[in-house]
Amino acid sequence: MGVLPSPDLLWQSLPVPAFLIGADGRAEAVNPAGEEFLNASARSLIGQPLFDRLAVDAPLEEAFARMRAGHSALFINDVEVGTGDRAPVLCNIQAAPMAGAPGTVLLLIAPREFADRLGRAQGLTKSARSAIGMADMLAHEIKNPLAGITGAAQLLAMNLAPEDRELTDLIVTETRRIVKLLEQVEQFGRMRPPERHAVNIHDILDRARRSAELGFASHMRIIEEFDPSLPPVWADADQLVQVFLNLLRNAAEASGAQGGRIRIRTFYDLTLRLRREDGSRALPVQVEISDDGPGIPPAILEDIFDPFVSGRENGTGLGLALVSRIIADHDGWIGVESQPGRTTFRIALPKAQGREG
Ligand SMILES: Nc1ncnc2c1ncn2[C@@H]1O[C@H](COP(=O)(O)OP(=O)(O)OP(=O)(O)O)[C@@H](O)[C@H]1O
Ligand SMILES: [Mg+2]
Repeated sequence: MGVLPSPDLLWQSLPVPAFLIGADGRAEAVNPAGEEFLNASARSLIGQPLFDRLAVDAPLEEAFARMRAGHSALFINDVEVGTGDRAPVLCNIQAAPMAGAPGTVLLLIAPREFADRLGRAQGLTKSARSAIGMADMLAHEIKNPLAGITGAAQLLAMNLAPEDRELTDLIVTETRRIVKLLEQVEQFGRMRPPERHAVNIHDILDRARRSAELGFASHMRIIEEFDPSLPPVWADADQLVQVFLNLLRNAAEASGAQGGRIRIRTFYDLTLRLRREDGSRALPVQVEISDDGPGIPPAILEDIFDPFVSGRENGTGLGLALVSRIIADHDGWIGVESQPGRTTFRIALPKAQGREG
């Protein structure tokens, strides 16, 4: 199910300075790239005349009036834009009348030096995030026409003799596969930093297990070996459920239709606790998910946590990439050992004690 990214998310993710300007010339909204460009917070800018802070070497008033009269967009290339506290930079300006309101949307398409600086200043993760935000929006936009294509193929199939349906079936299965891939991309895009609390790891594992057994793992036997004395972990419960669902799903898919056995084990790693004395970070809560399936193909074992690495015909290879990203966001650790007949993923997580009052 696709959720339209909120306009606010779109605004926040825009990699170029963007401003909403009221009819009176005052700033009504400034996006994060705009704050960075003006070196001022949106709060301090909103309500103030924008062009007091932004010196644009072009007759903008006049151009805006023409633009509004003609209900058209405005493009001005290579304009010097100054901000008072640093040398003017050459920008391409794009503006358009605000939809349904008397104001103007203004975008500054900044030159490369500034774009580079912006990338550095915001750090890689932030620009990576905005790239993922774009991919997320794109994924959503592609899914809609795909639904139309699937529907049309199904309508066509209704009027065909069964032996002629091979091609329409192909359209339907392939578009479904693309939709699934796009949903995974969207899942990446929607990832937020974990909201961590002290949570019981066994409750999380139970949630994942129950939903697995109702669906993709109904043919598997799942065995629990829980250490009931484990302390709470410092984690985002929903994100960890996603992690365990992905691991259980992989185990179930690897085992094939004949089924198999999955063991979920939790334990407290005493050696890690002892090593804490010398200042190393302790990640004492351990969770293992093992299965007795065929094992991970050796050719991909090394790269298993990278995106788009898959050993399955219809796999997107995003499951474990998502898992490792969530675990990294939790300051945790994940490892894998695999041979035919036994594959074990082991996750180490920090305990909650001492984190929260
Ligand atoms: N328990 C397992 N047993 C055997 N192979 C596994 C196991 N877990 C993962 N793999 C292998 O690792 C590959 C990558 O897994 P990952 O979850 O990242 O992607 P995927 O399952 O192919 O696709 P997706 O999860 O995005 O639908 C799988 O395709 C499979 O070949
Ligand atoms: Mg998977």
